[in-house]
Amino acid sequence: MANIYSAIKVSEHVYWVGAIDWSIRDFHGYTTPHGSTYNAYLVMAGKITLIDTVKAPFMDEMLARVASVVDPSKIDYIVSNHSEQDHSGCLLEVVDRVKPEKVFASVMGVKNLKDIFHSDYNIQPVKDGETLSLGNMDLKFMETRMIHWPDSMFSYLQKDGVLFSQDAFGMHLATLERFADELPADMLEYEAATYYANIVLPYSPVVLKALEKVAATGWAIKIFAPDHGPVWRKDLGFIIDLYKKWAEQKPANKAVVVYATMWHSTEMMAKAIAESLAREGVRVKLLSINDVHRSEVVYEVLGAGALIVGSSTLNNNMLPQMADVMTYLKGLKPANLIGAAFGSFGWSGESVKGLEAILKEMKVDIVAETISVKHVPAKDVLEKCSELGKVIAAELKKRISR
Ligand code: FEO
Repeated sequence: MANIYSAIKVSEHVYWVGAIDWSIRDFHGYTTPHGSTYNAYLVMAGKITLIDTVKAPFMDEMLARVASVVDPSKIDYIVSNHSEQDHSGCLLEVVDRVKPEKVFASVMGVKNLKDIFHSDYNIQPVKDGETLSLGNMDLKFMETRMIHWPDSMFSYLQKDGVLFSQDAFGMHLATLERFADELPADMLEYEAATYYANIVLPYSPVVLKALEKVAATGWAIKIFAPDHGPVWRKDLGFIIDLYKKWAEQKPANKAVVVYATMWHSTEMMAKAIAESLAREGVRVKLLSINDVHRSEVVYEVLGAGALIVGSSTLNNNMLPQMADVMTYLKGLKPANLIGAAFGSFGWSGESVKGLEAILKEMKVDIVAETISVKHVPAKDVLEKCSELGKVIAAELKKRISR
């Protein structure tokens, strides 16, 4: 059968040999409406080296792309920069087919891969700062623990100035354009931000340290080759500056009001709060969780300074769709937020207490009193909601000017 897949040249010695997943719509809870790619790279060095592999069902596509450059059995080394299964799922099957001389991973990567595959295959650990000779060129390793797993590392091909950055600088975007500069900047920013918010956000302090660590190497990086989405070969400052901004999470003049409503009472309150915030000059995103996915909420929260959450009470609890988004947000650890909780009830009213408790666990600074109304908000309650908006707006202004 004809090989429909081609490798794409990334630099003098590096080819993209990954796979395009046009169909994936959920990545461990993160909705991916535009699919994804699992990037692997072939380094045509003295020791022919494959950097990362792909999700298991895509192995044949990857090997077909390799075959467009060289017989896969000629691969000498495989480097696993990240052991999550979207990059390692077919690793041992590839080893079986290709029979490389050696496979390398970070110390934690070796442990993870053992826990994933339960195989006796001997993977060589490499340390932070170690250099691997590929014969006529070198590959340097840098541990980047928790971007995105404890095993994660970057590899740097000095000869071509290519940094293989695994999950960092990636995005879930299925395209046949292989380079970021072939795509519109607003699309890149949105997709990279959504990816950062849903995957990288909890590790923001580590991101800032990793950016410093990379800068301190003095490496003359020309290309970022991530494990998802397009390759960055022009204006690397664009994505570096965005990563700095997202990792710092400085207070911004934007509020996200997210709510779940049963009989529109909580919705009326949400709208009153949002209108008031807007009158006070705050940019507002009003999101009914019945209409948007949790991934979109965390994308909006990434650029916000305030998070205001509301829910009706159902069976002594918040509505389940609100519990879903709060659990998700808590896990992603957005920082430097102020906020408040509001909601409605018929006879008990636990939703607001529950929301407030989660905001506290998230270390959101609660700057306004909660508002909880029995059945339908009358004029006085809606005025309280407007007042809540004013309080949040004033506090946001203070924090931004600090
Ligand atoms: Fe793309 Fe953390 O795996």
